[in-house]
Amino acid sequence: MAAERLQKILAQAGVASRRAAEELIRQGKVRVDGQVITELGTRVDPSRQTICCEGKPLTLAEEKIYLLLNKPVGYVTTASDPQGRPVVTTLVKHLTALRVFPVGRLDLDTEGALLLTNDGELAQRIQHPSFEVRKSYEAVVAGQPARDTIFRLEQGIELEGRRTWPARIRTLASTKKESRLEITIHEGRKRQVRKMFAAVGHPVLRLKRIAYGGLLLGGLPTGQARILDPRELARIFG
Ligand code: URA
Repeated sequence: MAAERLQKILAQAGVASRRAAEELIRQGKVRVDGQVITELGTRVDPSRQTICCEGKPLTLAEEKIYLLLNKPVGYVTTASDPQGRPVVTTLVKHLTALRVFPVGRLDLDTEGALLLTNDGELAQRIQHPSFEVRKSYEAVVAGQPARDTIFRLEQGIELEGRRTWPARIRTLASTKKESRLEITIHEGRKRQVRKMFAAVGHPVLRLKRIAYGGLLLGGLPTGQARILDPRELARIFG
């Protein structure tokens, strides 16, 4: 965040109106990094300096940002990686100075749609099972799954002692060697799509998430991100 006039920062933080904030400053009730500031118009950077008004530190409502990234294979979706592998957040650094984190996870070897934000509340809400955000993947699997195999996967199969929720599967292309399928699930178990296909004898060869809720990856190139319009967020639940 750039430096702003002190009275403007106080007003934006909801401490007082601009006029009343000026009065607080004149009266010596505002400190910046411990120093009383009485000069109106002093420019302060609230992301680097501590502002106290009548002894209370200011809490600024942080700007919220939402990004959609086309994650490449080989990137981890954690904030840092002890093994030194590349992390997804480095791919969006040029778009925002705010610290963002990925919502949910995609495997190292999975590519595609990944939402990043600094909005912890929304992230929690989205991931709560009661929302059942649907996620669609394009999966290239080994072999040619039979109709009844697809049907079984759609109905739900036993996976690690728990039945998977109903899924939707569409065959996009199929040869004896491999098939390209679109699968939509509502859960987010670890490596779920890979485990589902492995369980029926058709291991996943490539996996790409093409939609997160109603948010479509579209033509976003691999490794690129775009800032979402807040109105687009509603599509997650749509
Ligand atoms: N299912 C998987 O197997 N991997 C992912 O990254 C996401 C869903």
